[in-house]
This record gives sequence, structure tokens and C-alpha cells, in this order.
Amino acid sequence: MEVVERVQAMVSSSRTKDNIPIEFIRPEDEQPAITTFHGPIPDIPIIDFGDPNHENIIRSMADASREWGIFQVVNHGIPLDLIQRLQLVGREFFDLPQEKKEVYAKPPGAPSIEGYGSKVGRDVNGKKNWADHLFHRIWPPTSINYHFWPKTPPCSKVNEEYAQEVRKVVDTLFRWLSMGLELEADVLKQGAGGEEIEYMMKINYYPPCPRPDLTLGVPSHTDLSAITVLVPNEVPGLQVFKDGLWINTKYIPGSLIIHIGDQIEILSNGKYKAVLHRTTVDKERTRMSWPVFLEPPAEFVVGPLPQLVDPQNPPKYKPMKFKDYSYCKLTSSPK
Ligand code: OGA
Ligand code: NI
Repeated sequence: MEVVERVQAMVSSSRTKDNIPIEFIRPEDEQPAITTFHGPIPDIPIIDFGDPNHENIIRSMADASREWGIFQVVNHGIPLDLIQRLQLVGREFFDLPQEKKEVYAKPPGAPSIEGYGSKVGRDVNGKKNWADHLFHRIWPPTSINYHFWPKTPPCSKVNEEYAQEVRKVVDTLFRWLSMGLELEADVLKQGAGGEEIEYMMKINYYPPCPRPDLTLGVPSHTDLSAITVLVPNEVPGLQVFKDGLWINTKYIPGSLIIHIGDQIEILSNGKYKAVLHRTTVDKERTRMSWPVFLEPPAEFVVGPLPQLVDPQNPPKYKPMKFKDYSYCKLTSSPK
């Protein structure tokens, strides 16, 4: 069995003073120093949930989801203090000594992705990600495996509160995204699993890196989810691929970054686009992020909504159980 070394442990053992191991060096066409665009370009759209004109919100959100597949939400209603507590608990977990974190390690060969870990194995280029992570479901209660909720620092209170708050935002997102397609308000949510939608929290930990020009935290991908609701820390690093260019996203304190994932692209028959994105790392600072992936239950079948399919708009995707979709994507793609 391969023992997976955590990136954080490798960095703190300071074997990487000025150089990084070859398995972290990306081919040139992926290296951020060569492929990041630095020029005048619009930032990803910002949607203000405080706007009293809901028609306006629905229109801007639909435009953003068609053209970008990603947007930031401000005035979303989640208290800033809760977001800060979520971040503190995550930071304290990764600050634990290595052996205390390993208690929560994903068991090798386990069917679920839940637990503490680093990407196992390498991608098609033989490359590794400059990142460690912790996955755990936070909703619905029947899907939660409390074994993967850290006891030090205690995270249950903040996870429970965050799950409640994020659910409100998610219901609003689904409703307005549905209406943006001229559908009844509940159609998209029902099409993605309704009340059974699973909220998979991931905490990404990207340690400082002596050569951020050569490596990536997470390489280019779209999310498997229906929607991803992400809280970043203040260290920039999320990049979005738009019109052939990799562009940086701007950090707005307290905002939520919403990604359209594969399942919404499929349900909308391609009208909304799953965003292609990746992350870069920082030379001095630790970047962290807290995405929640909204996933249909394993056996739930997702396909283009019948309301959006007609002879002029034939289905572009084959209906599939979410578990089969994930399996095919994770075993065939280079991510
Ligand atoms: C991911 C991801 C982005 C980020 O974990 O799927 O894209 O900002 N993370 O960390
Ligand atoms: Ni992602």
C-alpha cells in the first residue's frame, strides 16, 4: 500500500526550501506563470442578494450562469461571524500535529471520498496537487458520518449552523436559477435530488510553495456537483477559464463564490455552463477554501429537463445515475 505523504508535512519538514519535487512541476501548458492572463478583463460577476428587484437578480444570475458558470454573491444573509468561525475551526484542524490529523484520514480503498487526505496517485501527466483536504458531509443528517467530523477543535456546532444557513442560500439559488430558465421555481432543485441533495463539505489546505509559478493546487476541472458554494480565505488563487484565458478571481471578504457544476449544466441541457477552474498557490501564505458540493444522491438519475428539450433542442446529455456519472468522470479524466 502506498503511504501518501501530506503536502503540508512535506513543506514543514523544509525539504523544499527553494525547489519543489518534480512530481509537482506542471507541464508548461499548465504552469500558472506562463498561462495566467494579466490584462484588462472583467471580474467574475457579482450578484447582490440585497437588491430588492428580484427580476434583476434573476436576470443577472442567469446571464452569469450562461456566460461564466460562476459568480460571487454578496449580502447572502450568512452571518460573517459564522463564516469566520467556520474558517477558524478549519485552520485549527490543519494546525494540529500530523498524527492528530491522520486520525481522520480517509481509509485506503473506502468507497466514500470522506476524510482527511491528499490526492491519491497522480494524474495522467504523473503530477500531484499542492494541496491537502478534509471531506465530510454536513447535510442531510442521515448522510452524515460523524467519524469524519473533527473532535479537536470541536466542529459540530459550527457545521450544524453553517449547514442551516447554507441551505437557505441554496434554496434561493435553485429557485432563481430555475426562474432564469423560465421554469417553475422548484424544478431545478427537484431535478437535482430535492430534499435528498447531499452537502459535501471540503476544506482545501494549500501550504506555501517556494515555486508557485510551476505548480497548481488543483488542476483544471469542472465540479461534479449541481452547485458548489465556496468560501475562500484572503489569499487569492482561484482561476477561471473564460474565452480562452485563465483569469484570477477577486477576493471579496465575506462573499460566497458560486460554481455551476456538471449536474446543472446537464439539467439545463447546456444552457447554464459548468465553469472550468483551477487553483494556484502562494509563495509565503497558506491558502484555504471551504467549498460545499451539492450532490444528487448516488442512485438519483440526472438528465436534461424535459421542459428544455424539443426538436430544435435535442438532448445533449445522456441521463445517468449520479454514482455512475462520478465513477466515469473520476476514472477517465485527468483530474
Ligand atoms: C475544488 C476547487 C477551488 C478553491 O476543490 O474543487 O475547485 O478555490 N477549489 O480552492
Ligand atoms: Ni472545483
